[in-house]
Amino acid sequence: MFVVVGVSGGIAAYKTVQLVRLFVLAGHDVHVVPTADALRFVGTPTWESISRNPVTTSVHDDVARVRHVALGQAADLVVVAPATANTLAKMAAGLADDLLGTTLLATTAPVVVAPAMHTEMWRHPATQHNLGVLRGRGVVVVGPEDGPLTGGDSGTGRMTEPEALFAAALAAASGAAGRDLAGLRVVVSAGGTREPIDPVRFIGNRSSGAQGVAVAVAAAARGAQVALVVAHVEQRALDDAQRAGIRIVRAGTAAELGAAMDAEAEGADVVVMAAAVADYRVAAVAERKLTKDAVGERLTLELVETADILAGLARRRRAGQTIVGFAAETPGAGETLEARARRKAQRKGTDLLVANEVGWARGFERPDNAVVLVDAGGEVVGAAQGTKRAVAEALWDAVVALRGRR
Ligand code: CTP
Repeated sequence: MFVVVGVSGGIAAYKTVQLVRLFVLAGHDVHVVPTADALRFVGTPTWESISRNPVTTSVHDDVARVRHVALGQAADLVVVAPATANTLAKMAAGLADDLLGTTLLATTAPVVVAPAMHTEMWRHPATQHNLGVLRGRGVVVVGPEDGPLTGGDSGTGRMTEPEALFAAALAAASGAAGRDLAGLRVVVSAGGTREPIDPVRFIGNRSSGAQGVAVAVAAAARGAQVALVVAHVEQRALDDAQRAGIRIVRAGTAAELGAAMDAEAEGADVVVMAAAVADYRVAAVAERKLTKDAVGERLTLELVETADILAGLARRRRAGQTIVGFAAETPGAGETLEARARRKAQRKGTDLLVANEVGWARGFERPDNAVVLVDAGGEVVGAAQGTKRAVAEALWDAVVALRGRR
């Protein structure tokens, strides 16, 4: 394989020397593209002797052979290790002010990034946003790991060790990347419940089910065995799911969805409640259509609270089962989405809560979504912005990380 290893300016660059060596020993043709900053950590002679190929960083070298795009075009695989916060930001923005930038724009090969930075920089919403953008484009993110960091502190931010990174990069190149849910049974709910008022009317909500379907389809693509419990999702959206081999279970009301989820959750390793469930149902559903003659000028409906399906699933979770919820929030002034998500995660007992801000012009009926992900302790463990598929991939990345932690 023609492998391009991009190196950005972090101390973990010394570990990348070993990564390059692993590729070379396995018989690959490795071309190292360090940023100018990376060369302050590990110099050109090291890269050239380990990779056995010339090393340049400038787009103005070797212009006759159009090196600034040639490397990207020739690559079968591009690995950026370490990927600093700055390099991830540049990649997300598509900046091409050095050879690594032009190479990344010119390639159609699988791209793997191995972030390395301090915990605060990793958690910063800007970095998480950039990762969401990159994941949405299919970039495979490996690590970072927990452990000691330079400067004596410790936390999330260590670059993945070369051997593990090598294996992940080869998997990405072979298209096997992301089969990280293989062997898991997953159940996802999607859509919006409808609570009948009379035989022709209902109380409903604006959920199309697209986000839940994207979560199910992404899980199937990553190797999981998936059941999708749907409430009022258009058949067009379900076609995608059925093509991916997902089993569909239909429900209408909150009570029906609750019963279906309870049954499906019994055999599931991961349960995702993406459906918009009515919080209230009509106390007494009219058997016959309500008419103006009979009702008069004012109609009062008595509503009673429905059971909280997610909280119930979390309370009854089996050992090893991961419970994921969604939260649609409209934060008030002085309130953050994160703070509301944290409270809801604790109230519902979820292992992971995916929170998004909604409004009449946000969240619904649109192809894009923006979310933050919080764990059981209310810690922000991820964020994503972009297509519903990008949000779904970030959800599964967080689930894989959480399950790995236990
Ligand atoms: N949910 C549920 N059963 C309900 C209501 C909601 O399982 N009766 C689930 C949703 O599927 C979602 C999560 O709970 O995963 C959060 O839904 P949301 O509407 O944001 O929260 P509510 O519990 O309705 O709280 P509130 O509307 O007061 O914010």
